[in-house]
Amino acid sequence: MGFVVAVDGPAASGKGTIAARLGAAFGLPVLDTGLLYRAVGVLCERAGHDPGDGAAAATVAAALSAEQLGDPALRTRRAGELASRVAVHPAVRAALLDLQRAFARQESGAVLDGRDIGTVICPQAPAKLYVTATPEVRAERRWKQLAAQGEAADYAEVLADTRRRDARDGGRETAPMACAADAILLDTTEMTIEHAADAARRIVEAARARWEASKASP
Ligand code: CDP
Repeated sequence: MGFVVAVDGPAASGKGTIAARLGAAFGLPVLDTGLLYRAVGVLCERAGHDPGDGAAAATVAAALSAEQLGDPALRTRRAGELASRVAVHPAVRAALLDLQRAFARQESGAVLDGRDIGTVICPQAPAKLYVTATPEVRAERRWKQLAAQGEAADYAEVLADTRRRDARDGGRETAPMACAADAILLDTTEMTIEHAADAARRIVEAARARWEASKASP
């Protein structure tokens, strides 16, 4: 197996940007696994399914293809909410498992970002990060990001969304959002994205050196 980097953490913690920067720095392909759940949520809504219907959502998840992940509709606030509602279903998570593991198994190695990469999808990953920040700071970042996309929103509502999503993602029974025992915690509350990406790169560099040394030893 190539060098796999697992980047987990709550909404708007900076994990997506960090994962993209790590991919560029280490020459690894990146999978934003949140997009898979966003796509399932949005496609369910378009098909008229209730996001609470796990069987219908699992059928949508099983038919998902990588080409469906480029849709800008997946970046909206609504898509984030729908994603976390379909993500509670064990059958949905099971239907998305092979695609994620196949991505991680590429010979080149890979970076995957999400909620359960270090705990469930790639528990053997040699580099694991858990990126977090306070709900207030994350809500402010998400609010600015939505405004830049042309989706004006009220800060108080975005903060309420953030808290609700944290509670749902961390409280679900199957693969809850969690920091793996062997992950390094990166709290970005007081960091610029440049600073956070730099700190992440140094952590991964050290993990890569350890991984290479362990491969070389008999
Ligand atoms: O960008 P943001 O952090 O808001 O969300 P995302 O990473 O796109 O994920 C959207 C939702 O998908 C999350 O709130 C989770 O409920 C779900 N998700 C998950 O359950 N497992 C993952 N590996 C990734 C996302």
